[in-house]
Amino acid sequence: MKDENFLKEHNARQLWHPMAHPGEAQAHPPRIITGAEGVNITDIDGHSVVDAVGGLWCVNLGYSNDVVKEAIAKQLYDLPYYSAFAGTTNPPAIEAAHAVQEFFADDGMERVFFTSGGSDSVETCLRLSRQYHRLRGEPTRTKFISLKKGYHGTHFGGASVNGNNRFRVNYEPLLPGCFHLPAPYPYRNPFNETDPAQLAQLIAQAFEDEIAFQGANTIAALIMEPILGAGGVLVPDQSFMPMMREICDRHGILLISDEVITGFGRSGDWSGARHWGVKPDMMSTAKGITSGYFPVGAALMSGKVAEVFEGSTADGTISHGYTYSAHPVGAAAVTACLSETLRLNLHDNAAERGTQLYDGLRRLSEKHGLIGDVRGGHGLMSGLELVSDRAKKTPLDAATVKRIHDATYDAGAMVRASGHNILMSPPLTISKAEIDTILTALDAGFAKA
Ligand SMILES: Cc1ncc(COP(=O)(O)O)c(C=O)c1O
Repeated sequence: MKDENFLKEHNARQLWHPMAHPGEAQAHPPRIITGAEGVNITDIDGHSVVDAVGGLWCVNLGYSNDVVKEAIAKQLYDLPYYSAFAGTTNPPAIEAAHAVQEFFADDGMERVFFTSGGSDSVETCLRLSRQYHRLRGEPTRTKFISLKKGYHGTHFGGASVNGNNRFRVNYEPLLPGCFHLPAPYPYRNPFNETDPAQLAQLIAQAFEDEIAFQGANTIAALIMEPILGAGGVLVPDQSFMPMMREICDRHGILLISDEVITGFGRSGDWSGARHWGVKPDMMSTAKGITSGYFPVGAALMSGKVAEVFEGSTADGTISHGYTYSAHPVGAAAVTACLSETLRLNLHDNAAERGTQLYDGLRRLSEKHGLIGDVRGGHGLMSGLELVSDRAKKTPLDAATVKRIHDATYDAGAMVRASGHNILMSPPLTISKAEIDTILTALDAGFAKA
């Protein structure tokens, strides 16, 4: 490894960072994170903080899980790679698919298609949902419905169902046939409805209206996050997802639950859909599937979908996949990660510590007027929406958000600034004292706003 001077001198010079302006990154280089232990990360200057971001909503097991690390290391020696395209497979992939299917059996998932990450998993679900309808003799069902504020990755399909303007505009035109419903976002919505249950009803009506307008026989799937993560941790009313499920069923529309964040315990249940008592037709997963230790995702299929593919003619061939689908090292990471996730019962800690974090954030909002809305309370995902004027809900300016973020980091916690939101999704192994550290650091951050 080159020395510290080299790293600082070349920081963001050759490397273009995701979701960053390359010129801005050169002017203000990113923090160089050099190490991690437990739920803490350390930067190149030796400053250690609690990682309230969990890497990127993904390091569910924290940074020190040796079981997963050893499984990865061992597999590198046994078989570092082999293709899973037609004709060959590998032992860790067979085992991992079995483990993932068992993990999501209560959600009705019966088949597993491995990918390299969340965007791939979303893309796989979107593509296979179209193929599902073709196989059933309804090839006109090609359109997708999704929620504004939803985030589904950055492939063209995923970006087309994304509900955030800033992930779309630079890359338009996107996929035709994608339509968006209002988000379950009581703080701001086109109906001016602050009651979450009422808002859920209004969105359900908008969904029915859109189906009538488009024609049910043109719609392949609704894709939604059970709790919208990157859009600001928007927690819908408990009636929302069941209502969307019922409408999908009535109109022959597949329900894809995007569980890239909510899967594997983050919501306080093993899946976000289960949290709301819903069984989807497909699930897109990634992140917590390996705790971020190796890039893996998985698209999961219910029995209803599997049956159609498996009982079909040659048209049921899945002409889709990735070089790294069912990667043996990734698969070894998956099996180890799921067994650790279950052994540690991570969803219980996520629920308990999530409530602690949410309650603490609500107390902070009583003290700091810049906090316009506090969201969370369902597992370890929380968001603060920052405003300069509470009555007018004016989004806080970027410079002040950055000041708060930096001061919070200096005081001991890495949080994520996303627009005028501060988002938190720490490892699911986090302790009570470490949640308190996040809250104390944020308090110090707001004091410097
Ligand atoms: C709900 C959801 N879907 C899809 C993705 C895309 O995943 P990836 O960044 O691994 O491609 C993300 C990423 O954060 C996500 O939160």
